[in-house]
Amino acid sequence: MNILVTGGAGYIGSHTIISLIDNGFSVIVIDNFCSGHIEATDAVSKYENEKIKVYDGDFSDAGLLDDIIKRHNINGVIHFAAHSLVGESMDEPLKYYKNNVAKTILFLEFLKKSGINNFVFSSSAAVYGTSDKNPIDEASPLNPINAYGNTKLVVENILGSMDRAYGFKYISLRYFNAAGANKSGQIGEDHNPETHLIPRVLKSVATGENKAVVFGNDYPTDDGTAIRDYIHVDDLSYAHVLSLKFLIENEKSKSGAYNLGYEKGYSVMDVLGKIEEITGKKLKVEFTGRREGDPAILVASHEKIKKELGFEFKYNICDIISSAWNWHSNHPNGFSKAQA
Ligand code: UFG
Repeated sequence: MNILVTGGAGYIGSHTIISLIDNGFSVIVIDNFCSGHIEATDAVSKYENEKIKVYDGDFSDAGLLDDIIKRHNINGVIHFAAHSLVGESMDEPLKYYKNNVAKTILFLEFLKKSGINNFVFSSSAAVYGTSDKNPIDEASPLNPINAYGNTKLVVENILGSMDRAYGFKYISLRYFNAAGANKSGQIGEDHNPETHLIPRVLKSVATGENKAVVFGNDYPTDDGTAIRDYIHVDDLSYAHVLSLKFLIENEKSKSGAYNLGYEKGYSVMDVLGKIEEITGKKLKVEFTGRREGDPAILVASHEKIKKELGFEFKYNICDIISSAWNWHSNHPNGFSKAQA
């Protein structure tokens, strides 16, 4: 079976193509490399050259898509390609609505016209905004507080309408905090700029600086720092494979949205403690004010994906930090100047 993966050179995309190949799928990647890394797809190609084909281009380019479907019979799609920096989305909303929404509409139009179904969408906990209730289940109110989250919600709504009107089958996966790296050590997280807690601190440890900046210690939590639900990128990746299998194997499968998180919250200070334990380095911790738009607590309820798709989570926070440390300590400059 051939799966078309947009944004397959990105962090979660590249981990997912490994998981797809490990589970017997062949992968056709479209990526314009605006934030993805050619080194990531190269690493996968080295590992399994026969099962991956990479196209450099835009997922809304009808000519490229035509060419791809002439060459490959597509059995399912995973749509990762999107801009995903929350702060930037507030400063440059049109860039986000154009790429994440307008181009996705063109892409969906093409899929519909071509009769391609079985669509897995990379969504986010950002669709919930701030929630009074934790863990957050899928029926909770959807009130994004940033443009990025809004773009994800708009696409989820479009998919819902397409399902009703055309029987277009999809699963939206709402990620909480993706972190960690593949066990191969060949791919990992490398964003520019890096805004996420775990890679920021581990990069600092890898370069000997050992610095951590905590954004806010006046939240209504036990230690005053914000709580998040971190999920290993390899668990996240496998959830995409399972979702596709579910759509492909059950013709009468129901479309829907599923949370992906461990239903366990860790504060920023908890995470820093685990990082010190795993790296053996004492961190120099600096406290600054809250980062704009950060909710106090975001923890997933994950009953729905366990019950309906039979998903089993394999990893925990220690696996997340050890695997991320394995990646960052061997690649202190990310993909560009790998020092493995
Ligand atoms: N944080 C720090 N110091 C840092 C970086 C982050 O204290 O150097 C804090 C943040 O303020 C936050 C927590 O660590 O409280 C986690 O921050 P991340 O940037 O790692 O992750 P976010 O929770 O901000 O982002 C996640 C997803 C986004 C999604 C967002 C929804 O990665 O895709 O949740 O709120 F949009």
